[in-house]
Amino acid sequence: MSHRIVFAIFCFIGVLEALQFQNLNGKWKLHSANMIIKNLDAEVPGGIYTDLMENKILGDIFYGYSDETTKWVSRTEWIYETNFTVPKDLVNHENVNLVFDGLDTFADIFVNDQRVGASRNMFVQYVFDIKKHLKVGNNKIRVHFKSPIQVSYDLAEKQNKSYIVPPLCPPDAYHGECHANMIRKMQASYAWDWGPAFPSVGIWKNVSIEAFNSTIIRHVVTDLEVNGTNWLLHVDTYLVENHVKGRRITGELVVVLKITDNQWVKSVVHVSVDGKSPAVSTYLAVPKSKISTWWPNGYGDQKLYTLEVTYKNGDEQSFKQVSVGFRTIELVEEPIGKGLSYYFKVNNVPIFMKGSNQIPLHILPELGQDKQRVRRLFQAAKDSHMNMLRVWGGGVYESEYFYEVADEMGILIWQDFMFACAMYPTNEEFLE
Ligand SMILES: *[C@@H]1O[C@H](CO)[C@@H](O)[C@H](O)[C@H]1NC(C)=O
Ligand SMILES: *[C@@H]1O[C@H](CO)[C@@H](O)[C@H](O)[C@H]1NC(C)=O
Ligand SMILES: *[C@@H]1O[C@H](CO)[C@@H](O)[C@H](O)[C@H]1NC(C)=O
Ligand SMILES: *[C@@H]1O[C@H](CO)[C@@H](O)[C@H](O)[C@H]1NC(C)=O
Ligand SMILES: *[C@@H]1O[C@H](CO)[C@@H](O)[C@H](O)[C@H]1NC(C)=O
Repeated sequence: MSHRIVFAIFCFIGVLEALQFQNLNGKWKLHSANMIIKNLDAEVPGGIYTDLMENKILGDIFYGYSDETTKWVSRTEWIYETNFTVPKDLVNHENVNLVFDGLDTFADIFVNDQRVGASRNMFVQYVFDIKKHLKVGNNKIRVHFKSPIQVSYDLAEKQNKSYIVPPLCPPDAYHGECHANMIRKMQASYAWDWGPAFPSVGIWKNVSIEAFNSTIIRHVVTDLEVNGTNWLLHVDTYLVENHVKGRRITGELVVVLKITDNQWVKSVVHVSVDGKSPAVSTYLAVPKSKISTWWPNGYGDQKLYTLEVTYKNGDEQSFKQVSVGFRTIELVEEPIGKGLSYYFKVNNVPIFMKGSNQIPLHILPELGQDKQRVRRLFQAAKDSHMNMLRVWGGGVYESEYFYEVADEMGILIWQDFMFACAMYPTNEEFLE
C-alpha cells in the first residue's frame, strides 16, 4: 500500500516538472521591419547572417568582399516572430517568465503585442515577467531588433564631446564599423585585425518559458578550500526571483556530491529567503583521502565528480547537476632580483603554462556555440600539449559546454572580462 502511494506521488511530480518549462527554440518567422523582406523561415537560436544565407538572400558571406557588400544587413531593423500554444497548467503558475539566454543586442520584446521589456547587452540573460500577458491557448512573441550600428552612433552622439572615449573607429583597412566600445556586444563583430565586420543581430541562445510558484534553480557555483584532511566544497545556489509581492521562498535544498556509486557527501538546507534575490550557500566537507585531484593536461588525470543540487517545495522541484574537479591553484609572486615571479602552482606543483589566445570560435556568435567546434578546439589544444587558454575580451563569454570541455581536457581558462583594446564609457548606464 505505502509503495503504491510513493509511486503515485513520484509520477505526479514528474508531470508537474514537465510543465515548468516550455522550449521556444525552433522555427520562427523573420521580416525586415520595413516589410521589404518578409515571412522568411528563421532558426532560433540563430542569427541574421545565418538566416539570410539559409534563405538565399545572401550568398556565402566569406566569399569576396561580402563584409562590404552586406553592410545593409546591420543597418536594417529585423523582426523575429513566433506563435505557440501554452496549456492551462503552465499559465496557472504564480510566476511565468520569458527567458532569453542571449539577445544580440538591442531589441524590444512583445508578448501578444504588449511590450514586456527591452535588451541592450548581448552577454547577459534576460528574464521578463509575462504572467499577465500570457493566455491559455495561442500566443505570439515578437522581438524587434534595432540596428546595432545606428544605436552605437546614437550613443556616441550623446557622449560629452570634450571627453573622447577612443577609439572612435577601427583603422580604415579593416572596413569595419565605428563606436563598438559604446555597446555591450562582441567587439570583434565590428571588425578586428583578424576578422571581418559582421555585426550580428538575433536570438543567439536558447529561449524558453518557465513557470513556478516557489522558485527554480538558476545557477550553481562552487569554490574549493583545503581544511586539514578535508576539502571544503562551497556551493552557492542562485534561485530565480519570485515576483509575488512580499513572498519568501521556503523549502529544502539538497546538495549531494557523488564520490562513487555508493558513497556520497550530502548537505540538506532548510531554505527561507527573501524572494527578491534568493540564494543559498552551503558547503560539503569531503575527505581528501576519498578524492583524486584534478590536474592540468600533461600533469595527471582530470577526475571530475558530479554534484547534484535539488530544490523542493511541496510538489515543485528543480534540479541541477554540475561537474567538480578538486584542485588548488595559486599565482606565485615572490621577489626575484628586481621584480616579482609570476607563475602558477596547481596542487602545490609549479606548472609551466603553455597556451594560446582564444578568439571567438566563429565570427557569427551563434555558430561559436556549436559543440563539435568547441570539442575540436580543445582536442587540438590538448594534442599540442597546451594547458591554458585565454578567453579574449573582444569576443563573448563562452558557452557552459566550452568550460565543461576545458575541465574535461585539463585546460585552465584565463578569462578576460569582455573589454578589449579600447577605452569604455563610464556613464551610469554603461557601468550598470
Ligand atoms: C501567427 O498567427 C497569426 C494568426 O493566425 C498569423 O497571422 C501570423 O502570420 C502567425 N505568425 C507566425 C510567425 O507564424
Ligand atoms: C501554483 O499555484 C496555483 C495558483 O495558486 C495553483 O493553481 C497551482 O496548483 C499551484 N501549483 C503547484 C505545483 O503548487
Ligand atoms: C564634459 O567633459 C568636460 C571635460 O572633462 C567637463 O569639464 C564637463 O563638465 C563635461 N560636461 C558634462 C555635461 O558632463
Ligand atoms: C538549449 O536548448 C536545447 C533544447 O532545444 C537543450 O538541449 C540545450 O541543452 C539548451 N542549451 C543550454 C545551454 O541551455
Ligand atoms: C576546519 O578544520 C578545523 C580543525 O580540524 C575544524 O575545527 C573546523 O570545524 C573545520 N572547518 C570546517 C568548516 O569544517
